[in-house]
Amino acid sequence: MDRLKISGGKPLSGTIPISGAKNSALKLMAAALLTPEPVTLTNMPNLADTRFLSQLLSTLGVEVYWPKGDATCHLNAAELTSTIAPYEQVRKMRASFNVLGPLLARYGHATVSLPGGCAIGARPVDLHLKAFEAMGADLLVEQGYVKAAAIHGLKGAHIVFPFVSVGATEHAMLAATLANGETVLENAAREPEIADLADCLNSMGAQGSGAGPATITIEGVEKLHGTTHDVMADRIEAGTYAMVVAAAGGDVTLTNAPVAALSAVNHALRNAGIIVDADKDARTLRIQRNGSKLNAVNIDTAPHPGFPTDMQAQFMALMSLADGTSIIRENIFENRFMHAPELSRLGANISVRGHEAIVKGVDALKGAPVMATDLRASVSLVIAALAAQGETEVSRIYHLDRGFERLEQKLTAVGADVRRVSAEEE
Ligand code: EPZ
Repeated sequence: MDRLKISGGKPLSGTIPISGAKNSALKLMAAALLTPEPVTLTNMPNLADTRFLSQLLSTLGVEVYWPKGDATCHLNAAELTSTIAPYEQVRKMRASFNVLGPLLARYGHATVSLPGGCAIGARPVDLHLKAFEAMGADLLVEQGYVKAAAIHGLKGAHIVFPFVSVGATEHAMLAATLANGETVLENAAREPEIADLADCLNSMGAQGSGAGPATITIEGVEKLHGTTHDVMADRIEAGTYAMVVAAAGGDVTLTNAPVAALSAVNHALRNAGIIVDADKDARTLRIQRNGSKLNAVNIDTAPHPGFPTDMQAQFMALMSLADGTSIIRENIFENRFMHAPELSRLGANISVRGHEAIVKGVDALKGAPVMATDLRASVSLVIAALAAQGETEVSRIYHLDRGFERLEQKLTAVGADVRRVSAEEE
């Protein structure tokens, strides 16, 4: 298994280009199942997760043309050969479950493995299933699979989500595009990726409105056509590099950055004393910290436009070096503090009480061997390592490869000392 060796303590300078958003790309790829015509996605991030979903789509009979390293992915679901997504594939990546809605909407039946829990919590899919039931699907959950049928097609429904779920909102949107009649989604998620999905679906001929506010309305159509869609830039990747510079110091400009989607993160960084110059028109975010101290800032994770749970671990790494104590509350997932003990190995002073982490800032972190546990937790260790004195070795970095495109190259380009070491090299 590969590891990263990081020598910290070097201020960074230069430019980092932000890639397409993983969490948008995965749903856009699933949208290609809704039409027999070609869907081309540009600004596609080359990641383990997006490559993995392209394999699942191929298994279903989608023609996928996506040369290695290319940012354009061509998908053609003219004729599917299967509507079954097997356990071996869904278990590896939860977002694979998102093929259920499009298959059900277009073919009237689908069998998809339940995704199961994961490192950050149980993560049930009950809201997804309730939405499909409201749309008239018959569901049977048997032997770990959801067997769904809507022989006469899905019908529009009025769905009120009891709490905000990004995945359930997106999944219901995908299915509603081909349902018979109008679907209204209330208390829908407002994450920027939802608006990106809505834009793509509307460019395929869907009749949707309102993605962004908490109520989304979709008038089903008989069929959708092909499209070319540019995947939005990754707000979590951008926010992560902003935290890297905030922790290690320096002056770095992020290009192709989804500036408007980052307001909660930028607000927290500014409160911490970081200079953030955000230019919406130029899509750049310049992050500067030149020797200034870090203020301790409290955060509460919340659905968009609140502080994103996917940035919580990174912010904790930053706060471990703050001048004072910060309280970090995780309100989305029940088990998303696995990075805390690993950060403590680098000298951070963090105590976890249920959904709350109390981070007492220390003067300096020191390099140590640490282990990645999930995608965002892993990158929080990279942030801490870049700010720490001495060398840190991060193992189990396959988690990072799921969601950060060319991480070492992007970091070394701004002066960081980061090396990937494969097991064979030693
Ligand atoms: C998406 O997950 C993202 N994943 C997550 O990013 C992100 O952390 C999360 O949204 C919140 O922003 C993708 O887009 C692929 P939810 P999702 O449904 O859709 C509970 C990353 O690191 N819930 O909004 O699965 C759930 O357990 C990943 O890139 C139910 O109880 O998140 C959680 O506590 C990690 N029943 C809460 O709702 C359901 O049917 C919010 O989850 C659905 C969700």
